[in-house]
Amino acid sequence: MAVDNFEEKINILEKEAKDAANQASDLAQLEKIKIKYLGRKGELTGLIKELPSLSSEVKIRIGNRLNFARNDLSELFYEKEREIKDREIKESFKKETIDVTMPGQSYSLGHLHPLTKVERRVEDIFGSMGFSIVFGPEIESEYYNFNALNIPQNHPARDMQDTFWLRQKTTNPKNHLLLRTHTSPMQIRYMEKNNPPLRIIVPGRVYRYEATDASHEIQFHQIEGLMVDKNISLTNLKAVFEEFFKNFFSAKNGKKVEVRFRPGYFPFVEPGIEVDIKLGSNPNWLEVAGAGMVHPQVFKAAGYIPTTPQGGASWQGFAFGVGLERLAMLYYGISDIRLFYSSDFRFLKQF
Ligand code: FA5
Repeated sequence: MAVDNFEEKINILEKEAKDAANQASDLAQLEKIKIKYLGRKGELTGLIKELPSLSSEVKIRIGNRLNFARNDLSELFYEKEREIKDREIKESFKKETIDVTMPGQSYSLGHLHPLTKVERRVEDIFGSMGFSIVFGPEIESEYYNFNALNIPQNHPARDMQDTFWLRQKTTNPKNHLLLRTHTSPMQIRYMEKNNPPLRIIVPGRVYRYEATDASHEIQFHQIEGLMVDKNISLTNLKAVFEEFFKNFFSAKNGKKVEVRFRPGYFPFVEPGIEVDIKLGSNPNWLEVAGAGMVHPQVFKAAGYIPTTPQGGASWQGFAFGVGLERLAMLYYGISDIRLFYSSDFRFLKQF
């Protein structure tokens, strides 16, 4: 082919290819055009194969021209392909419809642990009787857990609560740490910072180093109660307990709840009592709490002036400690405390 014809041919093919590409309306058409001009047996490729027949002076010029045309077309094809793909995506969005009759996907939601449910129920009932809810530290000092509650070192009452001590060199009770064995230390902590009249409950986790069985765990929950005012007596405590239990078990088909006080010993109350309840027709009394009138030594440790100038008590109060797990066991009819902490879904799913 003569040189002029060669150049003319390139110009014609390039224009043809561009026009065709610009008119292509889908990817399949575009692909065909690409193959027609730039494919292995394509028309522009055919011209490249003819290059060797040209004289060496023009070979370079024509070669460059051919390369330029190839690159130019490749770029155009690429852009055109992007344009068609974009348009197709936009059109597919327009066509998309939502089928409102399609069944939805259901998610399985978790739920609160039975102990959390019972704790919230207890908080609601005491809250309705004017008690504030406060929390205390689980890592406690020997002083707040024992000494300030009228349980001095070497007092046999310490044996009532087997204790997890933190390994420390200090023997100073204010710095010597342990995992609290009950929620009673919050009586002192709260009274140190607040003046009567006061009504609080303190829910929280407590720890005891003891053998586990169906009614004992090494980690469990208590709810401490404390009410301090001028004229408080055990009668008030009984009324509060009766009101609490009546409400607490009200969902249980209105079963009658009876409350009984028995003498009990706790160094931080005087007199001390154990609280039993009897539910409906169940003939057995069940122990649910320790309680009593706040001991003058406890008021003293908290910084309250225990007596009036006339020799009477300045403040009187009652305190109690309820076991949350025991309450939950009664409420749901659970026979083994260890089930709460077993993470067994067959158990947990029932609440
Ligand atoms: C106390 O812990 C006193 N702090 C309660 C108290 C507070 C008395 C205020 C007077 C004034 P006690 O050790 O009895 O008392 O525990 C109270 C309740 O916690 C028990 O009635 C029981 O319901 C629960 N409890 C005790 N030990 C365990 C245990 N190992 N596992 C589960 N619950 C327990």
